[in-house]
Amino acid sequence: MTYISIYDTTLRDGEQTPGVHFGARQKLDIAKRLAKTGVDILEAGFPASSQGDMDAVARIAAASGDGELGDMTVSALARMRRDDVDAAASALKDARRARLHVFIATSDIHLERKLKITREECLAAISEVVAYGVCLKRENGKPAFDEVEFSAEDATRTDPDFLRSAVSRAVEAGAGIVNIPDTVGYTTPAEYRRILSDLRASVPGDWLLSVHCHNDLGMATANSLAAAECGAGQIECTVNGLGERAGNAAMEEIVMALKIRRDAIRRTAPDGEGTEPLGCRIRTEEITETSRLVSSLSGIAVAPNKAVVGQNAFSHAAGIHQHGVMEARGTYEIMKPEEIGLNANTIVLGKLSGRHAFADRAAQLGYSLDPAGIDAAFARFKEIADKKSVVTDEDIRAIVGEYLDSLEGTYYLDTFQIQSGNHIRAMALVSLFVKDPAADMAGERRTAAEAAPGEGPIDAAFNAINRIAGAERVELVSYGITAVTEGTDALGEAKVKIRDLDAGTIFSGRGVSTDVIKASIKAYLGAINKWKEMQVEARS
Ligand code: KIV
Ligand code: ZN
Repeated sequence: MTYISIYDTTLRDGEQTPGVHFGARQKLDIAKRLAKTGVDILEAGFPASSQGDMDAVARIAAASGDGELGDMTVSALARMRRDDVDAAASALKDARRARLHVFIATSDIHLERKLKITREECLAAISEVVAYGVCLKRENGKPAFDEVEFSAEDATRTDPDFLRSAVSRAVEAGAGIVNIPDTVGYTTPAEYRRILSDLRASVPGDWLLSVHCHNDLGMATANSLAAAECGAGQIECTVNGLGERAGNAAMEEIVMALKIRRDAIRRTAPDGEGTEPLGCRIRTEEITETSRLVSSLSGIAVAPNKAVVGQNAFSHAAGIHQHGVMEARGTYEIMKPEEIGLNANTIVLGKLSGRHAFADRAAQLGYSLDPAGIDAAFARFKEIADKKSVVTDEDIRAIVGEYLDSLEGTYYLDTFQIQSGNHIRAMALVSLFVKDPAADMAGERRTAAEAAPGEGPIDAAFNAINRIAGAERVELVSYGITAVTEGTDALGEAKVKIRDLDAGTIFSGRGVSTDVIKASIKAYLGAINKWKEMQVEARS
């Protein structure tokens, strides 16, 4: 069997999903979960893009150096610039095994319209910066990176002759891994095979072929697997298919396809005689926990009909299907729920559960909370456990997810009052605690209150919050509320997305409560707090 390396970019490309922002601590929790899942290489971030990303990558690299991430290689993204490479080197300095991932666009439309450089300038930059990354040394004289990966952004829309030149330059400069991304999700399995086979045949050298597919036409998984069949040794993907626009190839789909269709997804054997199966080192029974942690920390729900990890993936609604599954599961199920770790743990907590049991369960679900975090999340758990008979893992994810979202906020809910009815305009009075360093030092808590009308109680509450936060140039993009579990006492989880009308940036928030208006206000505050953070950063 030939093993394909799984390169996970949930923390970098996945974070480019509109409205998704992972804090450094959340990134570390995901990194630990991915290490446990068996990921070979983790793209931890893009250090030159912001101080936040630099710190998060450094924290993950330090955890890797301390042995907390097993053998997983930590990778950092860089544009084709020396200062980006320096930033990656500095962020990765403590990693057990460090990879530089340096990219530049190669298609004419990107060169002419985005980068405004010629093909020759592009080739020169590849030769110079890849060699710079390969030769860069740390203070102790050791190489800054254990390996260097080159990506030709928008490779599938690049003139084949020029793509060959770009890849040749990167390999000559010392790149050991060459990634051929389908950046805009445009290629098809047959076309991708042709592009990749041509490169393999025409660029000599000992380089590993990597692929990175986006899902704009729904072909990311099929394209990645076609690439594996024709020689790719590395597949780049994200958990739950998070990523720009329609997302990236979903890790769970690739991994389960490799496992379930070992008979069909094959590659010509090295001696040219027959074919051999392809596999990977992912522990598939970790997939469900990993998917749920990423969904909780990103705030992006998994669609019920999503392959492998969707809620309906193992549900059978039609009577004829139910009958078939009762007779023999194989009639309508091609994989077993246990293979992806579904139903592996059925522990539920309740109002008699103590702090220790709660902290234990939260840790098992992948959240590392400090003692203050455990106290705060446990207080929320107690409030909820008093209203609900059982608190499930889903409830705990919602409680901890909301707590983590609220950590860096300026505004916290103090009180709200709503007046609403079928013959009166809804009116909300909202009072918020406002984080104020001066008042905090004096041991005081500042509050601000505003009243506002609206088209219903939730709209009125959001309008009152806008008045307090000065968020006149913010619009609501989406709002939804779902029951976390079943039953009339279920927790309601509200999710909100807002857009800054000037910058166009989207911010998301979520809130949980057994009261839907309270959940909605908390969700809106979560999004407003992220928006506020951007306002403060832009001013400083
Ligand atoms: O989609 C893409 O081309 C990328 C590169 C940076 C690899 O994400
Ligand atoms: Zn991408």
